Amino acid sequence: MSLRLGWLAEVLGDSPTLNLSSQAQALIKAGEPVINLTAGEPDFPTPDPVLAAARAALADGHIRYTASAGIPELREKVAAYYTAASGLPYAANEVIVSNGAKQVLFNALSVLLNEGDRVAIPVPYWVSYPAQVTALRGKVIEVAPSRGWKVTPEDLERSGAREARALILNSPVNPTGAVYDRAELAAIAEWCRSGDFFILADEIYEDLVYTGAGHVSLVQVAPDLRHRIVRISGLSKSYAMTGWRVGFGLADKPTIDAMTRLQSHSTSNVCTIAQKAALAAFDCRPQVAEMRQAFHRRRDALVAALAGVGGVRFAVPDGAFYLMLDCSEVIDPARRREGCWRLASHLLEKQKLATIPGEAFGAPGCLRISFARSEAELREAVARLRVGLRGFPG
Ligand SMILES: Cc1ncc(COP(=O)(O)O)c(C=O)c1O
Repeated sequence: MSLRLGWLAEVLGDSPTLNLSSQAQALIKAGEPVINLTAGEPDFPTPDPVLAAARAALADGHIRYTASAGIPELREKVAAYYTAASGLPYAANEVIVSNGAKQVLFNALSVLLNEGDRVAIPVPYWVSYPAQVTALRGKVIEVAPSRGWKVTPEDLERSGAREARALILNSPVNPTGAVYDRAELAAIAEWCRSGDFFILADEIYEDLVYTGAGHVSLVQVAPDLRHRIVRISGLSKSYAMTGWRVGFGLADKPTIDAMTRLQSHSTSNVCTIAQKAALAAFDCRPQVAEMRQAFHRRRDALVAALAGVGGVRFAVPDGAFYLMLDCSEVIDPARRREGCWRLASHLLEKQKLATIPGEAFGAPGCLRISFARSEAELREAVARLRVGLRGFPG
């Protein structure tokens, strides 16, 4: 065939997280006793009222297209929810409902970037950030933290983020579970004031914070920057609704309108039944709290078990359901460039333990562990990890 695919087909790799996750799932299907710590989703069922609302939507014949930005009742509910939760007034026309937070991000980047524009992304990052920027012919500026997992204004300045057209700030962070507190956000906001760029605040894990202070949104500490901030969230992680594909974007009306025009030409609306079901999610805050408590207990169980494992280091995650395990000490310095891919393969092959190499997220020498698993599984996983690390040739 002489016709070649376009540049993007060659540039864009598969998502390494999805690859490893499906490898682990294939082994599980084949009957192997794999403990899968690659999951980027809750293992809880979607709350019953949401399921009931979906059945009712079907029974009532809600099977047609909706408005691209979402059904008005849902946009109103989202606006009312975020108005109450953040103390900043949002109108329904400042909300878009998209196919997950992922499409909100893609819509936003699409309408904010021009070809060649740079986007500042703190490292380590969720894998889809650089992929989406690349797909839109933008350029990534990686912002490495000088200490720990969170970036500071100094890190942003040093990396040249001031030249960017947009900054993506994710909190709680996938893949580290780090959570930016009010003071850290205030410092970043102050730095943002001295520049002129958009900020995409990815808050998809906003309900999964294990500190007393809870989640703080950048826009709450810097309401004056609101016109430059696109808030990104949705039902996937907090409500155990990853497969329903309901994400929310909150921004100024002109930005939302532009995102809606794009969505109308790409995917139209989110599945009508999912939107109807999503209305019921807002009554499920007690179930969200229960799931958060369960994740909190799991986090504690994982951290307690890991404390006795030699050769690894980690920071206790304050949010989301991921922990980044620094395994660089167990890797032969001569083979550091190969990173943790060999270690992850070794653990999967020898110990039936599935993890994701930190290299996938820009964190060399680390493994990402998801604690969206039962406490018993997590304890067994750490026992296997301990044996696996001991048997790893380095
Ligand atoms: C940081 C982050 N943002 C966005 C998403 C996408 O969420 P959704 O499933 O709602 O598209 C994910 C999913 O893994 C994520 O980890």
